[in-house]
Amino acid sequence: MQRNILTELKERRSVREFTSDAVSEIDLMTVIEAGSWAPSAGNSQPWRFVIIRDKGIISLLSELTVYSTIVAESQALIAIFLEYDLEFDEVQAQQSVGAVMQNMLLTADSIGLGAVWLGEIRENGKSVNRELAIPEQYELAAMMAIGYPAHRNQKSHRKNVNDFILKQIGG
Ligand SMILES: Cc1cc2nc3c(=O)[nH]c(=O)nc-3n(C[C@H](O)[C@H](O)[C@H](O)COP(=O)(O)O)c2cc1C
Repeated sequence: MQRNILTELKERRSVREFTSDAVSEIDLMTVIEAGSWAPSAGNSQPWRFVIIRDKGIISLLSELTVYSTIVAESQALIAIFLEYDLEFDEVQAQQSVGAVMQNMLLTADSIGLGAVWLGEIRENGKSVNRELAIPEQYELAAMMAIGYPAHRNQKSHRKNVNDFILKQIGG
């Protein structure tokens, strides 16, 4: 039976502990393809992906973030870079990456993988470029750590939806 999209959204959790099972290239490409169907300003599609499954590189990258253990124990990383298009401002490019990440997180979850959005590693974005030999014109926007979930005990919460409503006008 098809699950309701709101149920899917509510049940996705950030996964930070992974098993030692490898993630296949086909699954990673499925996740990335889902990301590529995100909306973007003027359909500019400013995102570029680097897929990392090399344990040595994963280990090097783990030293560039306070979330070292998550990175070191992941089976794969997807780094998302932005190539800014002069036609669109940087904020809109960054917003597009948010949509990419949400598509990718939900798709990873739907095929039994676990994933987490890593933003803090951007503090060392230039070092990430260097380690991956990616030219400086590409800016690290986000990274995703992926693997099979070691457990499903993740908890999260949200405020009541009414707490987010500043006001209702009409209706
Ligand atoms: C922009 C952004 C940056 C994030 N950076 C990190 C990070 O560096 N490390 C981490 O463990 N989680 C990071 N997260 C994941 C959030 O902590 C997580 O989404 C939040 O706690 C809600 O939990 P949930 O995803 O399970 O609903 C980030 C999420 C976003 C949207």
